[in-house]
Amino acid sequence: MNKSITINGKSVEIDVDENMPLLWFLRDRLEYTGTKFGCGSGMCGACTVHLNGQAIRSCVTPVGSLANQEITTIEGLSEDGDHPLQKAWLDNRVPQCGYCQAGQIMNAAGLLNSNQSPSDQEIENAMQGNICRCGTYQRIKQAIRDAADELAKEV
Ligand code: FES
Repeated sequence: MNKSITINGKSVEIDVDENMPLLWFLRDRLEYTGTKFGCGSGMCGACTVHLNGQAIRSCVTPVGSLANQEITTIEGLSEDGDHPLQKAWLDNRVPQCGYCQAGQIMNAAGLLNSNQSPSDQEIENAMQGNICRCGTYQRIKQAIRDAADELAKEV
């Protein structure tokens, strides 16, 4: 019997070669195409998703290693695109070409899952592995600050 994995709240059978990178499983098998292929070696962050709420690089994670684990992609981060980060991203008009942005948001969400009020230095440290060829770094940082402020109001 195949192993299964939970993706965006739904149980999915791993009916592919277990060495397939999670990224391919998401994009080609399940058509969750919000997660992007960037470098293919875990160096740019475009493929970032969550494993049990923490950011991981899906291009270098074999899907078979994730049996019975919970994966969240950008499609599952919120019901209606209303996660505080997604709202702050819109308010700050963060994206340019947009290619890296799902990975940026998922990485930032992983940060806020573990630290709801990060300092500027903590934001920089957490986000430094996510590359943006358009150079939207200042707006990303501002959006994370704004989302953290929103989360603080909800507590
Ligand atoms: Fe273009 Fe980041 S918005 S790569």
